[in-house]
Amino acid sequence: MARVLITRRLPPGGLDPLVVAGHELLRRDDRPFTHEEIVDTAPAADAIVCLLTDRIDAAVLAAGAPRLKVVANVAVGYDNIDVAAAAARGVAVCNTPGVLDETTADLAFLLILAAARRAWEAESELRAGAWPGWDIDQHLGRDVHGAVLGVVGFGRIGQAVARRASGFGMEVLHHTRRDTGMVGWQGDLDRLLADSDIVTLHVPLTDETRHLVDARRLRLMKPEAVLVNTSRGPVVDEEALAAALEDGVIFAAGLDVFEREPEVHPRLLAAPRAVLFPHIGSASVVTRTRMAQVASENVVAALAGRTPPNLVSADR
Ligand code: GLV
Repeated sequence: MARVLITRRLPPGGLDPLVVAGHELLRRDDRPFTHEEIVDTAPAADAIVCLLTDRIDAAVLAAGAPRLKVVANVAVGYDNIDVAAAAARGVAVCNTPGVLDETTADLAFLLILAAARRAWEAESELRAGAWPGWDIDQHLGRDVHGAVLGVVGFGRIGQAVARRASGFGMEVLHHTRRDTGMVGWQGDLDRLLADSDIVTLHVPLTDETRHLVDARRLRLMKPEAVLVNTSRGPVVDEEALAAALEDGVIFAAGLDVFEREPEVHPRLLAAPRAVLFPHIGSASVVTRTRMAQVASENVVAALAGRTPPNLVSADR
């Protein structure tokens, strides 16, 4: 029997694969483990099931050595884990790709629609009792149907958004570093930004994608453009985005992720035509449960000496 540290409460049923395999769970249900508690508990753990809010850094991995075998993130992104340090210690790192694509793409589309049509701004006005009655020029937004959608990063989630876009009669462009060979590929990100009415970001956070959308790139976008980010906050320079919204450099933004979660840049909170969600991309009951199960299945496989289904590598 192995011991598995569970850093945070998970959906009911999410840990079933670990329970069925007979592993002991090191957990607390009152609140998440702090980073210090993770370091303190790691020496007793063969595996860690963690979330994107947990920093699994060199200190955790050093504390876990030599017992710790696997770290399984309940997320598709794994920028919270020092993958190189894990590899150096022979610790497997796993994520949960595939199971959250459609749910996250739904949310990205909600942000596309909400930001382009100024839905939250209009709703807030109504709730505040400030709706003076119908008028011809109230809350005029931008059409989503027929618009050019620029998808930055064309993995599973980006492609799931593109499928939705075709139902809206949109023209879809996509940017990846390597040619996908698919219709709409644009290798030049600057050109994709200039040609798109709506831009949606689906890249992992890496050294190359940090502040991928900065002040210069925002200026390349159309003044009518909408920017949506459901990937990771630091992919966008928030200060520059807030300024771009204030100055009308772009029309609107829809964000589900932020540079310093759970803090939200005060200028973004105050910026016009910004729709802001608290990182709920994959937040459906079924998807969050399945993500926890996939993480658990990865741990079960690794502890049984098998290659876990969702092993990530240090070089991507
Ligand atoms: C959520 O942001 C994830 O990476 O799964």
